[in-house]
Amino acid sequence: MRKPLIFGNWKMNLDVKQSDDLVRSLLSVKLDYGMVDVGVAPDFCSLSTVARTIRDMGVPISVAGQNVSQHEKGAFTGDVNADMLLTAGADSVIIGHSERRTVFGESDELINEKVRLALRCKLHTILCVGELLAEREAGVHVEKVLYQLGMGLKGVSVDRVNNIVIAYEPVWAIGTGKTATPADAEEMHAAIRKFLSKTYGPVIANKIRILYGGSVKPDNIGALMLRENIDGALVGGASLVAEDFIKIINYYK
Ligand code: 13P
Repeated sequence: MRKPLIFGNWKMNLDVKQSDDLVRSLLSVKLDYGMVDVGVAPDFCSLSTVARTIRDMGVPISVAGQNVSQHEKGAFTGDVNADMLLTAGADSVIIGHSERRTVFGESDELINEKVRLALRCKLHTILCVGELLAEREAGVHVEKVLYQLGMGLKGVSVDRVNNIVIAYEPVWAIGTGKTATPADAEEMHAAIRKFLSKTYGPVIANKIRILYGGSVKPDNIGALMLRENIDGALVGGASLVAEDFIKIINYYK
């Protein structure tokens, strides 16, 4: 019912040439885009090069910014706005990644401003949520994630929410090699879907894709994807190695 989506988040790891080389490796393999939607999030400097390479090959790989300004335009040195992303060739944006929240101190309010602006500008928006280890150990992980979700989606109307993908990324699983068990991830994904259903109704909630992120690898994607409410993955480290990312995209084979 929901088409799986596998998205690579390259973070701040590759220069322009390395990003282009990586996307070319991905494009050199025949992937079944009818089965799985695929996307990549290069850094801002590489984005237009990567987007052009993808466009020239005529494949439907989505390109996302890793962040976006909450401002439309103006004197905001160092910031990148939604229009810049779109005109550089992006169709999507990642907002509220835990690294933006924890390293750069982005608040739920700021993330909500970004989400509303990105959706207004017709960028597909991947809204990230996820709890810290201490919150999971204290048993407040579901509460925490639903709070982030409610804040992130504040003021987002029923017609705009169709353009949202939720990424559940437990902070303790990012880059650590520790993955949430499929059962733990499913518990959270089901809670997220229930929240979406209460807020937007079951028809819309059933269409929204919820990705899992946090040490997704070729050997654990299969078990995660078997779960009812896990609709894909937001992949960090393993998306930097073409062979591994391709295996993850082809998880169903
Ligand atoms: P890793 O796959 O490296 O754990 O990163 C996950 C992530 O943060 C994707 O956005």
